Amino acid sequence: MTDIKDQALDILLKNRRVTNGHQYTVPSPKSYPYQWLWDSAFHAIILSHFNTADAKKELLSLVSKQFESGMIPHMIYWVKGEHLSRDWGREDTSTITQPPILALAVWHIYEKDQDKSFLEQIYPHLMSYTKYLLTHRDPRSNHLIGIINPDESGEDDSPRFDLPLGLNPIHTDEENFQSRLKLIEKNKECKFDTATCMRNFFWVKDVPFNSIMVNNLLTLSKIAELLGKNEDKEFIANNAQDMKKAMREKMFEDGVFYSTYNENYKKIKVNTWAIFAPLIANLYTKEEAKRLVSEHLNNSNEFALNYQVPTVPKNEAVFNPDGFWRGPVWIATNWFVYRGLINYGFTKEADQIRDSSIALIKKSGFREHFNPDTGEGQGAHNFTWGGLVVDMLDH
Ligand code: GLC
Repeated sequence: MTDIKDQALDILLKNRRVTNGHQYTVPSPKSYPYQWLWDSAFHAIILSHFNTADAKKELLSLVSKQFESGMIPHMIYWVKGEHLSRDWGREDTSTITQPPILALAVWHIYEKDQDKSFLEQIYPHLMSYTKYLLTHRDPRSNHLIGIINPDESGEDDSPRFDLPLGLNPIHTDEENFQSRLKLIEKNKECKFDTATCMRNFFWVKDVPFNSIMVNNLLTLSKIAELLGKNEDKEFIANNAQDMKKAMREKMFEDGVFYSTYNENYKKIKVNTWAIFAPLIANLYTKEEAKRLVSEHLNNSNEFALNYQVPTVPKNEAVFNPDGFWRGPVWIATNWFVYRGLINYGFTKEADQIRDSSIALIKKSGFREHFNPDTGEGQGAHNFTWGGLVVDMLDH
């Protein structure tokens, strides 16, 4: 195992950049030469296993560009390069966010070095980001967080967004790209004012985003408690409970959670790895989780392919083992499923996912994603997310 640990660190060190005193890691030097929100959280989690000082720098660089509203942008262009395929309407950062796994990354670091002064330093950022999501992204106080663009989910082309984008389930990459470019123009038209954008153009309450948010709240309440911020702690914990209830009421059907869209919470009934995301926030009962594992995760028509876990199951009409977020395995989604399974005590299944992740990297290297049938590497090269296997090695 040491070799895979060494390789993971090697990629992170090679992809490390320092600009104007800010230290961060680019996910892939050629394909993704900027700082990204959830990528940075993944980097911090990986780095916490080697050097907590570097993990902290990564997160501090990220929050240094937090907006006054509390929003943390999903991309920071420390050095403006040529790769900018989309214009998000600002010079130095994008204008949308990504799943809130920052608190969890902070917690990983704290578990390693028990440095309370770092918690003190980063807490105001975590808190204002959380409050931003709870208010701006939930204008009707229904306790679900909305996203205004598929890219905010981190799973840009996922079939969960076909319906809200008005796309036919079977379409070309170009059609997908064009429809998302159009949405960016609409997001600009509503000036990224989230309530207006959501009401008029795209309003998805996504299962992974909301599950990660519940996890974020539960983690943040532990941090608040440690720092003696009792009022905050209560506020945060209450919001976690409200969100859990709302997810159950609005998203749960036939044993799984579905993302919803529009004002009336229409369920998007396409099966993806997202059904496993609620495991990280204890949203399933033990019985439900058992069924989820036996009926879906271990089902060879769905998610139990040669390499696990495909982002879309084999028996979905839209399954494409070579499509972007439409079938291939990503190590970050594997990491979420792994963590969720550990949460419920499914260690055998969790170990299988860890082993599958390691097998993919051994076979095809640190690639962006992998074909679940053949294990072939796809997309970006020297991609950092494979390093998350380091966090799966001991539980
Ligand atoms: C792609 C992914 C997104 C990620 C980014 C940088 O856009 O869909 O999740 O943050 O690349 O790695």
